[in-house]
Amino acid sequence: MSKNVVESWQIDPNAGPDNLEAKQPFIDNGLDIYDPGRYYDPEFMAAEWDRVWTRSWLIAAIESDLPEPGDYSVFRIGRESILVVRQQNGSVKAMYNVCAHRGNQMVQNDRGSVMQFTCAFHSWQYGLDGRCTRISDKETFNPELVRQEPVLKPVHCETLAGLVFINLDDNPPPLMDRFGLPEGYLENYELDKMHCVRHVISEWHANWKTGVDAFYETYHLHAVHPETQDVMDDMGVQLDLYPHGGSRMLVPIGVKTKRQAEQDALNPSLQYMMAEAGMDVESFEGSARDVRPAIAQAKRERAKRLGLGYERFTQGQLTDSWATGVFPNTQIGLHPEGAFLMRFMPHPIDPEKFYYDTMTLVRPVDDPDYSVPGWMGLPEGTDTSGETRPDTEYVPSGEAPNLGLVLDQDSELLPVVQRGIRSKGFDGAIWGEQEQRLRHFHKELNRYLDGKK
Ligand code: FES
Ligand SMILES: [Fe+2]
Repeated sequence: MSKNVVESWQIDPNAGPDNLEAKQPFIDNGLDIYDPGRYYDPEFMAAEWDRVWTRSWLIAAIESDLPEPGDYSVFRIGRESILVVRQQNGSVKAMYNVCAHRGNQMVQNDRGSVMQFTCAFHSWQYGLDGRCTRISDKETFNPELVRQEPVLKPVHCETLAGLVFINLDDNPPPLMDRFGLPEGYLENYELDKMHCVRHVISEWHANWKTGVDAFYETYHLHAVHPETQDVMDDMGVQLDLYPHGGSRMLVPIGVKTKRQAEQDALNPSLQYMMAEAGMDVESFEGSARDVRPAIAQAKRERAKRLGLGYERFTQGQLTDSWATGVFPNTQIGLHPEGAFLMRFMPHPIDPEKFYYDTMTLVRPVDDPDYSVPGWMGLPEGTDTSGETRPDTEYVPSGEAPNLGLVLDQDSELLPVVQRGIRSKGFDGAIWGEQEQRLRHFHKELNRYLDGKK
């Protein structure tokens, strides 16, 4: 597998520079093999805290979770807990979830709505902007101590494409200086109009980067997820690298992998996808090669009827997964119908554990002919109207995340990979060009560890 072979993989070779599907220029990240200590060494983990987690822009919340002033969402990263709060003027602010008085954590739940925050220890109160509005028995404090109004300490916060980013650095560069994706790339999917219909946090016994690595390539599909081979062309994935560690893979769906010699006969998985797109499977006369464009066409027609504005999507976007990585720890599986927002969260103290935090976002469509695609793996009866925001489900440590077969397979595999990585018998990963996103991610991580911010 030479670099050139992978470079030639393009969804649409004719896509012009303004087309979001256009192949990006290759970025050469060298051929280094990294010391595997980065996946388990506590000192490496401490360096990541000091130079990556507290210096980079992190996706802390989605805007649709905060529709009204006073709505808040809690973002836990390492030992920190951050409040993300919708303000009276519609903007979003972030602040440490810590009372200025004696340090009590202000809020214990995941989300809520308040007009002001009241500390449970001595009832100090703070406005939505974090300014202290009440000190109980204020006259009993020496005025010198409370002359300067206490606050919930602010955290840098910016919104982009319906996502709320925070940065724990005291003086970070603007988000746009670090956000490598092209303008309009995420906006095209209108994430701000999508709603979280399922939110699961599971604890996996592996380093967070073992997680990122596995989700940044499709090279393992044939071995770990063989059932995907009937509907996903893992040998035709377009890989693109962006500045500042971002990257994507455009995974053709609705088409058999080129690993299968037989390319014409339909299979039950393709037929299922056609039915889901509203097609009449019985009367379909094409071969398996015709399915992907036919599904795109069916979706386009249905969207026209329902007024969903799919004109803004390329043909590929209608079927494919645009799995897009935002440095350091997020991948978003983008689809017109919804998105799968996954964050690989470091464990507070154990380098060999991480939290796999997944939000399933759905663009609500009120029509009996329309159903949310099966790839989302939503349990029967899930409310996809966007009207109820479900509680976060916490899966006990080491248990399968219960997000469908593919993710259960990954959750079983990763602890085994982690155990191998920390063996004396392992010298560091040998990444092929199907794994170029991993190299790009680790290279950027190293830049941060070397002092970038
Ligand atoms: S710690 Fe919050 S009021 Fe005392
Ligand atoms: Fe996987």
